[in-house]
Order: sequence, then structure tokens, then C-alpha cells
Amino acid sequence: MGILKNLFGPKEAKIVEVLPFGARFEVPRGQTMLEAALANKVPFPHNCTVGTCGSCKCRLKAGRVSALTDFGYTLSQQEIAAGFILACQAVPKDGLTQVEVEASGADVPAPEKFEARLVAREELTHDILKVRLELDRPIHFVAGQYANLKVPNIGRARNYSFADAPTRDGRQQINFFIRKVPNGAFTEDLFKGALDETPIDVDGPHGNFHLHAGNGPMICIAGGSGLAPLMSVLEDARKNRVKRPCAFLFGARTLRDLYGLEQIKQLEQGWADRFTFLPVLSHEPADSEWKGARGLVTQFITDVMPGIDWSQAEGYMCGPPGMIDAGIASMTEAGMTIDRIFYDKFTDESHISKMP
Ligand code: FES
Repeated sequence: MGILKNLFGPKEAKIVEVLPFGARFEVPRGQTMLEAALANKVPFPHNCTVGTCGSCKCRLKAGRVSALTDFGYTLSQQEIAAGFILACQAVPKDGLTQVEVEASGADVPAPEKFEARLVAREELTHDILKVRLELDRPIHFVAGQYANLKVPNIGRARNYSFADAPTRDGRQQINFFIRKVPNGAFTEDLFKGALDETPIDVDGPHGNFHLHAGNGPMICIAGGSGLAPLMSVLEDARKNRVKRPCAFLFGARTLRDLYGLEQIKQLEQGWADRFTFLPVLSHEPADSEWKGARGLVTQFITDVMPGIDWSQAEGYMCGPPGMIDAGIASMTEAGMTIDRIFYDKFTDESHISKMP
């Protein structure tokens, strides 16, 4: 017995410390770092919990972890090289592991549950709907965050980013841009108007995508319904007279997929510094009337603001994972450091299937 114990050694407690809040907790055998953090009431950013959304991304400062699924499915090579891991897929190997999460914007309101009803909807494109909900009371959020929407007793909840800038007293009416999911009962019903009188449960705000303090140029890229959080962030920055050069690239497949152009024009007119808007179409027929940029939106990143100091620039991206990975590669190649790149990946897992 004594020999066996010596051979295998006493079980060493696996302690994780989360910076910058300095919270420490033990990760019991069979739990991930994220599970243990949440069990210990540590406000660790997270969303899908299955390694696909990137919300639990944190930087390993000390110790080693093993990965339940390859971090490379979700994190870019640049992020992995810089020491980032996914807490929901990480199991600590050493006695003490230190990770650092991105401090969220100041005064992030705690999530609450609201009752809502749909008061307006407008088709922005053939597959994106602008939906306005009226809540039972005002909601406070930070520009760039999202809420969790669920029709009671029907299907799963879904995550959608706020498309408006927050207001000081909170917003009782909020808009979301919702993409129709093929064969998705919830979005099919929404488009048909079948949910117009139906109560909707709203849980939020959530998420840590937000504008970071700084003076450097901002390169913002939206793809598809990823326009919503960027409109929220940029509209909020415009209202607060943020004085930073901004390039805003919007990637869509064809002309009929472009939307929000009037709102972007107003943003441009009210912006306190240089503002460049570039819509880019990837699948527009060659013989169409479109005279603008064609190709992948990420191919235009380095051209859109010539002469900037890339080491001072920040990247903000919301859209599909492929667009974000290409954006990270292009921005880091141009000289932007990985810790100045912020994104919200719109995967089916992160924005649709988190729920029960
Ligand atoms: S919560 Fe870990 S990747 Fe989504």
C-alpha cells in the first residue's frame, strides 16, 4: 500500500489563479478550468462552453494545461503562439496555473431576466430581419454586448447582439439584426410574423466585446449580421465624440446582402475624425452594376487606411469565424499586436445553440 502510494504520489491539488481579479480556486478532477471557475462564482467570460465561440479565451501566464479539444479549431495560430487558451477546454496539469482574462469594460451591468414582446420588424435583406423588442423595464448594457432570447416553451434560446448604442437610463426598446437560419424554426417563425404577439424571455447583457480606451486608428470589420455589435460600438463612440480615425469594412456576398448603409452614412457624417467606409462584395455577378470593391473583405484591410502606425491600431471584428481568422492573420502581418485585436465570432454554436 505504502509503495503504491509512493508510486502514484498523493493527488496534488490543481489551483488556478485568474488575473486581473486574483481569484483562486481548485479544479477538481474531471472539471475544466471554466467549470471550476463558474462553480466558484468567478465571473469568467464564456458562452458556448464547448470550445467553439472563443469567449473563454484567456492567456496562460504560468503552469501548463491539457486541451480537451484542440484550441486550434477556434483560436488563430497567432493567438496560440501568444499563449492564449480556451478555459472551457483546458484542464490544468500543474499545482498552480495562472491565466489572465481580458478585463471587461468599466461598469459592465450584471445580467438580468426581462419579459419582452416583439413590437416591430423590418426586412433588412432577404435573410436578415431587424427586430425590435419592448422590455418590461429598461436594460443597461455596454455597446457590443448581446442578449439571450427565448420564446417560452419553444426550442432553444439564442444569442443576439444589441444593434443600438446604450443610453444612460437604459433602453426599454431594443433592436436586433437576426439572420434567417435555414430550417431554423425560431427564425422562420420570426420572418413569417408568427411571433409578433408572443412573449419573449430576454436574459442579458452578456459578452465582453466592447470598445477599448485608446487613441490609435480603429479597423472595424463586419460580416453579415455581425453589423449589429459594430453599429452599437461605433454609434456609442460617435455619441461620445471619440476622436480616432476609423476604417469600417463591411463584407457581404452580393448587393442584395448589403444593408444599414443609411445608418452607416450618418455615422460617417457625425464621426469626430477621419472615417472610411468600404463595402466589399464576394459573390456579386461580374456583369452587375456594382462598381465597388470585390473579393474577400479581409483582402482590403491593409489598403483601407494607408500610412497608419499599425503598432498603435486596434482591430474590431464581428462575423463568421473564417473572416475573423483571416482578419487576424492580415492585421498581425501588418504589425498589429494580437492583444489589440478584439472580435465576436458569429458561429451557430455561439449565437444560436448555447441554450437548453
Ligand atoms: S465558452 Fe469556451 S469557446 Fe465558447
